[in-house]
Amino acid sequence: MNADKTGYDACMKNCGFFGRVCLGSAALAAVLVAGVSVAQGPVRPAAQAGAAQMPRVVEKNGRWALMVDGAPYLMLGVQINNSSAWPAMLPEVWPAVDKLHANTVEAPVYWEQMEPAKGKFDFSVVDALLAGAREHKVRLVLLWFGTWKNGAPHYVPDWVKRDNATYPRVTGPKGEVRDTMSPFGAATMKADATAFGALMRHLKAADAARHTVILVQVENEINAYGSARDYSPEAVKLFEGQVPAELVTALHTKAGTWTEVFGAEAENTFQAWSIARYVEQVAKAGKAEYGLPLYLNHSLENPLAAPREGRLAWPAMTDHVLDIWKATAPSLDLIAPDIYMSQYAQYEKVLDVYARAGDKSKGGNALFVPESGNAAPYARYMFATLGHGAIGWSTFGLDLTGYANAPLGAPVVDDKLIDLFALNNEIVGPMQREIAKLNFEGKVQAVSEDPAVHSQNLEFGPWTATVAYGLRVFGRAMNAPGNADPVGRALVAQLGPDEFLVTGVSTRVDFRPTDAASGKHREFVKVEEGRYVDGKWKFLRIWNGDQTDYGLNFTTAPQVLRVTLMTY
Ligand code: DGJ
Repeated sequence: MNADKTGYDACMKNCGFFGRVCLGSAALAAVLVAGVSVAQGPVRPAAQAGAAQMPRVVEKNGRWALMVDGAPYLMLGVQINNSSAWPAMLPEVWPAVDKLHANTVEAPVYWEQMEPAKGKFDFSVVDALLAGAREHKVRLVLLWFGTWKNGAPHYVPDWVKRDNATYPRVTGPKGEVRDTMSPFGAATMKADATAFGALMRHLKAADAARHTVILVQVENEINAYGSARDYSPEAVKLFEGQVPAELVTALHTKAGTWTEVFGAEAENTFQAWSIARYVEQVAKAGKAEYGLPLYLNHSLENPLAAPREGRLAWPAMTDHVLDIWKATAPSLDLIAPDIYMSQYAQYEKVLDVYARAGDKSKGGNALFVPESGNAAPYARYMFATLGHGAIGWSTFGLDLTGYANAPLGAPVVDDKLIDLFALNNEIVGPMQREIAKLNFEGKVQAVSEDPAVHSQNLEFGPWTATVAYGLRVFGRAMNAPGNADPVGRALVAQLGPDEFLVTGVSTRVDFRPTDAASGKHREFVKVEEGRYVDGKWKFLRIWNGDQTDYGLNFTTAPQVLRVTLMTY
């Protein structure tokens, strides 16, 4: 059970939901973040105080946090399969969520279901998600499958799908009609914005007192696969015209036509701008109803390839158009990468590109990975993602509805696969509030194993932590050989000048004075194993002897240490 769930339980038990003062982990963290002493002034009941505060994505000193109930919150997520949000499927969803120890579930809301006839809304599917999430004590990220889902219009209601005169599709380069909606369809945009607004209005009525829903995704992996852009007469006219002045200003570029300004990238840039402009209207309509944080997910191309080299001809939604999105869709709080690249260098590069320091109006971007592959190599990347200051990380498609993105006949999702990902949450879940807060303060460093480099150094001023992979538990070794499969991961957070929180999987962590010339050596004053419960460290035992003589060895047991160091 994760910390937020534990805190919620304790609060319910000790205080009742709107009961007496209850400082659980969330409230305690809120007090710490606000820098307010508990002893000062009246303290409102935590549940009420929290409920009054909207979830927010905030930035400070170049770092990001998702504030939930007034304190940094780390989304330890799972995204359910595309067709799993139906009430009849939820009994196959919640057991997987529980086994995963996830604290956040990402679930689609289907426009086709929600607005079966124009202006007639059915929120029963959303309400079933809300009820289930509350029962299982997890938060929700809702995914609005509207005009675009993986570029296609497959989730638009049939009254939109069938009426392409009112709701036009993209015209391809040869004049062919394509399986994607035109971003120049004013009626489509209006209909989508109206429906999304209705969803947000419903959430406000159904959830504003609870904040079960903490974040909403607008559309899903938009693109016009197969066509660089729309070639409809309206689109052609705009493409041949001038780049809008506000975009020129935001990008600090010269004025001119799209081709003059963007050269070989003109069509992609134009397409990205066209879609971003549309999505901004949808997002704005939703936010006007209920101001939850909003984001959009990007599909990716090889981030290590040079521009245009080996890239698709229609990459309107990848890292290299991030600035277009930032400038054109300010109602989105962040742009998030969906990472289906298991190679270390690619994964790291994507994290680098999407974690941008600074205010979002100046191009800053909070890192959130809403989809990460669910094959074994991906499990370790939650740690590298935290190491980039992320506000959340989620794997895709771990539910028990019988779908797996694998060859037909291959095993579907089973306990073995779920356990690989559950381990991260077992470790980090009980202290997610603490890690989110420490990360917001810049005190966390976390890494995943690079198969090409078998040890990594984490610098904490006078102390350096070395993370080494593939060593035997007992005995010193000069060179780490790496794990047979690169499954290792480690997290080190600084709690004080000589005090650290340390955890990991299949790795050894040790410390040394950064200044090697000082001739000083590391000594463990104390290595405590324990866990956070409701924001308080609960001591379990002291590690010594075999457990510390060669460094701090983390196996696949979920273990967390508080380490005090000295030199001699
Ligand atoms: C990325 C999409 O965003 C998801 O909805 C899903 O289609 C996965 N790709 C693949 O299963």
